[in-house]
Amino acid sequence: MASIDSERRVLSAMRPIGRLHLGHYHGVLRDWVRLQHEYECFFSIADWHALTTEYAETDGIRQHVWEMAVDWLSVGLSPSAATLFIQSQVPEHAELYLLLSMICPLPWLERVPTYRELQERLSHKDLSSLGFLGYPLLQAADILIYRAGQVAVKAEQQVHVEFAREIARRFNHLYGGEDDFEEKALVAVSRLGKKGARLYTSLRKTWQEQGDEEALETARALVKEQQSMTLGDRERLFGYLEGGGRVLLPEPQALLGDAVQMPGLDGRKMSRVHDNLITLRDSDAEVVEKISRMPTDPARVRRHDPGEPQRCPVWQWHQLYSDEGCRKWVEEGCRSAGIGCVDCKRPVIEAVRLELKPIQERALDYEDNPELVRSILAEGAERARESARETLVEVREAMGLAYR
Ligand code: TRP
Ligand code: SF4
Repeated sequence: MASIDSERRVLSAMRPIGRLHLGHYHGVLRDWVRLQHEYECFFSIADWHALTTEYAETDGIRQHVWEMAVDWLSVGLSPSAATLFIQSQVPEHAELYLLLSMICPLPWLERVPTYRELQERLSHKDLSSLGFLGYPLLQAADILIYRAGQVAVKAEQQVHVEFAREIARRFNHLYGGEDDFEEKALVAVSRLGKKGARLYTSLRKTWQEQGDEEALETARALVKEQQSMTLGDRERLFGYLEGGGRVLLPEPQALLGDAVQMPGLDGRKMSRVHDNLITLRDSDAEVVEKISRMPTDPARVRRHDPGEPQRCPVWQWHQLYSDEGCRKWVEEGCRSAGIGCVDCKRPVIEAVRLELKPIQERALDYEDNPELVRSILAEGAERARESARETLVEVREAMGLAYR
């Protein structure tokens, strides 16, 4: 346990509220597949988060959870590389949420921009519940329960990561202090050995007096390298660098991947709300049908009318799926009316089918073997719980709830 390295630990999650589509694949999942080999990753199916808005129609959640698990596995998330689990199977998230609710000022929650935005967008639902207001706090608990330093999210979720940072900071401020902190910190420093202690002390001084970020990073790395140090001492050494108490819950950072925004069939962002998507399970026939119906440059009324790719949603798809040769063919053919829109769409249709084929083949295998999927998620939850329990032991103790 002394070996947890927050900065190498990534957490992310998705709400199971519908079929996954190409937007999820290009916008998120491909990033996760890469991250699972570079970091220690926890990926959670956030079914409690789904309840915050879907509490009145819970029938679909169960099925969406299974479909999501199958889709995750089919795109290449692997239980041997990452921990995959259902949020509600790790009840520790809920305990941390409750404990954090004690220190979470209500105005902080009311201020989160997504709160009002979503309430307005989903005005047909009654979202005046405590659960919905607490959404960002639940998300903070999801992250902090693993002391994950990195959160793989899209830009629009950054405010939630910032919220988790504020909660962590407040928690550390309230509970990270020890009466004899300085004394204990100095003992921990001496455990770095003579050379290590001297280096640590001078880096700390440079950071504190000159605000030199590099010195801070180097000092943190030095602490991280310590193999045989207790977790308490590590926390003190991290905390002492910043001047405060122990860092019980490290402040997470948003890890914005290099995911691309997937255009929808109508050229707007692909999204369930716009009903402009191709799901990961759409059949060949559906793919053909949907892309064939895609709007094109309205100037091309008849086959011999020239067009302009910049005004056409299909062109955005070519940019994602086609090589340079093909793109040139489109640009020239479109502007000269040398090709028709039906011709132009053909390579896109082929590329999408080719992309989905291996995913769907794997999905079929998993669907034939629901026991396997269940056991992957059960094992994931077990692994997640181990980490979560370790955090809770410390959190309870820090909050004065250790009864031994
Ligand atoms: N709120 C996220 C979304 O709607 C899902 C989510 C829940 C999440 N818990 C999380 C994302 C923790 C990152 C970290 O997409
Ligand atoms: Fe769009 Fe291609 Fe038709 Fe041009 S030829 S309008 S790029 S579909």
